[in-house]
Amino acid sequence: MSETEKSATGMRTAGAGRVTLALAGGEVRIAGWVHRRRDLGALVFLDLRDRSGILQASAGPDWTSPEVLEAVRGLGPEDVVAVRGVVIPRPEGARNPEMTTGDVEVRVTGLEVLNKARTPAIPVYLPPEEEPPSEKLRLRHRVLDLRRREMQAGLALRHRLVLAVRNYFDRRGFLEIETPILTKPTPEGARDFLVPSRMHPGEFFALPQSPQIYKQLLMIAGFDRYMQIARCFRDEDLRADRQPEFTQIDIEAAFVDPEDVYGWCEGLMAELAEVTGIEAATPFARLTYHEVMERFGCDRPDLRYSLEIRDFTPVLGELESNILRGAVAAGGRIRGFRLEGGARLTRKRILGLEAAAKSGGAPGLLWAKATENGATGPLGRFFRDDTRARLGLTAGDLLVAAAGPDRTTSPALDATRGAAIEALALPRTTEHAWLWVTGFPVFEEGGNGALAANHHPFVQPHPSDAHLLDSEPLAVRGLAYDLVYNGTELGSGSIRIHDADLQARILFMLGLEPDEISVKFGFLIEALRTGAPPHGGIALGVDRLAACLSGGGSLRDVIAFPKTTTARASFEGAPSPVAEGELAALGISVRARSRTGGE
Ligand code: AMO
Repeated sequence: MSETEKSATGMRTAGAGRVTLALAGGEVRIAGWVHRRRDLGALVFLDLRDRSGILQASAGPDWTSPEVLEAVRGLGPEDVVAVRGVVIPRPEGARNPEMTTGDVEVRVTGLEVLNKARTPAIPVYLPPEEEPPSEKLRLRHRVLDLRRREMQAGLALRHRLVLAVRNYFDRRGFLEIETPILTKPTPEGARDFLVPSRMHPGEFFALPQSPQIYKQLLMIAGFDRYMQIARCFRDEDLRADRQPEFTQIDIEAAFVDPEDVYGWCEGLMAELAEVTGIEAATPFARLTYHEVMERFGCDRPDLRYSLEIRDFTPVLGELESNILRGAVAAGGRIRGFRLEGGARLTRKRILGLEAAAKSGGAPGLLWAKATENGATGPLGRFFRDDTRARLGLTAGDLLVAAAGPDRTTSPALDATRGAAIEALALPRTTEHAWLWVTGFPVFEEGGNGALAANHHPFVQPHPSDAHLLDSEPLAVRGLAYDLVYNGTELGSGSIRIHDADLQARILFMLGLEPDEISVKFGFLIEALRTGAPPHGGIALGVDRLAACLSGGGSLRDVIAFPKTTTARASFEGAPSPVAEGELAALGISVRARSRTGGE
C-alpha cells in the first residue's frame, strides 16, 4: 500500500505530509488542522497539519474565490478544515528542504470548515523564540500537547517497537497470552492497587504489579515460551523513571538457563536499536552485582563513563584522622574517586559533590587537592610525604572519598560519581552502554534483622550458594540478572524456583507464617507440585525502553496519558471521590479524604 493510500479516506485524497512534487499539477483534498495562518496582504498562507506532516496552502485573489479567501482569513489555530486545491511546485528560493512537503504548495480553491476550535489553551504551533509550556500545563491539556510533532513521533516509535517485539518473539515460537488484571497480590516490592468486589463485600482484587506468578503458572501448564505486552500497576512513590501504571515486555520460558534469556534479549535489543537507528553491539558487557557495587556503587551503573570507585583504605586508613581510623576500626572502608584535573573545581563545586554524597546517605565527603609538592583540603592536610605517590595522584588531581560501611558509602559514591561526571564534563567512552548485571543476592536486609527479597520471592538461589541458605542467607546469590542501558534499568529477570518445598522455605525465610503462605501462595505451591519444569524469564520496561531509544526523554513523553508526579491523571481528573451510594454497595466507608483532591 502506498503512503498516500495510508492516509486517504472519503474526506481526503492524501495526508498533508504526503503531498510532494509527484502530485504537482493535480488536485488534492486535504483534511486536517490549521497549524498556522499568515496574512501577507492579498495572500494568505495556511499551514495544514495532520499526523503525516505539514503542508503549506496559499489563498490568493488569482486562484481563490473572494468567498473562500474571506473564509480562509477567518480561520484560527486548530480549526479543523478540508481544503481543496491544486499542487504547484514552489519557486526556487521558496523551497524548504526541512519539510517533506517543502517543494510544493497547494493553491486553495475550496474550503470547508469541519469544526471550529476554541483558542487553544497551550499552543500546538510554537514560534521558535517562544518558551514551551510547563509540563503541568502540557499534561492538563494533553489532547493539544499530543498534537505536537515530538509527541506523535514518540508514540509512533513506541508502536513500531512493540510491533517489532511481537514479531521477534513470534518468530521464536513464543505465544502471547493475556493474564488477569483482577487478581491476587503479586509481590514486586510496591503496594497494590486494590479493587473492591461488589459481589463479595469486604474482599478485594489486586491489580497485578506484574504477571510474575501467572507466567510461572503458564510454564507449569506447559506453554513453554510465553510473552506478553503486559500492563502493570504499582502504588509506589514516583520517580522520574516510574509510573504507577506501565507496560512490560514480559517473557518466560521453560527448560532455560540465563544464557537463553541473554541471547533472546540481546537479539531483541539489536533489532529494536535498528528500528531507532542506535547501536547495540552484542554480546553485551556482563558484570556481577558484587563487581558493580564495588566499582560503581550501584546496580545499574552508567558505563558511558569510565570513572570507577577505588578502595583507598590501605593508604588513607593509616593517616592520623579520627574519622578515617574510626571508620576502618568499625569494619568500614574508605573508597572514592581520583578525579584527574579535578583540583580546578572551585570550592563551591566541591561542596556540590559533597551535597551529592550526602543525598546518597553519607555524612560528608572527604577531599584533597594534589598540588606540586603536597595536598590541600580537609583530607589533604592529613597526607604524609608518601601518601600522594601511594595513591597515584599527580598535581591537579582531586581525590574525593567516603568512609564507612559499604552500604552507606556505595550509594553516596554513586551519587558523587554522577555529580563529578557533570562537574568535570567527563567525556563519554561510548554513546550506548549496554550491560548485564548478574548474580544479584536472593535476600537483602529488611529491617529489624528480617530478610526481604532483593528481586522477588521466586528467584532460584545459585546452586553453589544453596548451602548458605540457613547459615548466611544474605550471601546467597540468585540466578537473577538485570539489563542496564546508559544507567537505566531496562529489565529484570531470573531463573525461578521450581521446587515446591524450596519455594515454601524461601517464603518462610521472608517472614511468612505457614498458614499465610498457604493463603497467599498456596495455589502456586500446589501448582509447583504438579510437575513444574525448570523455567525462567525477564521483564523489560516498554516505557523506559521507548524513552531511552527515542533519545532519553521522560517516560511521560512516550505514554499518551501518563500520571503526574503526584500520581494523578490531570487531564481526565482521576482519582476522584466516589458517591456514598456506590461505596455503600461495595460495603466501604471512607475514613480519610485526600486533601489535595482534584489538584
Ligand atoms: P521488575 O519489578 O524489575 O521485575 O520490573 C521489570 C522492569 O519493568 C520496568 N518497571 C517500570 N517502568 C515504569 N514504571 C515503573 N513503576 C516500573 N517498575 C518496573 C523496568 C523494570 O526493569 N516480575 C519481574 C520480572 C521477572 O522477574 O521476570 C518484574 O516485574 O524497566
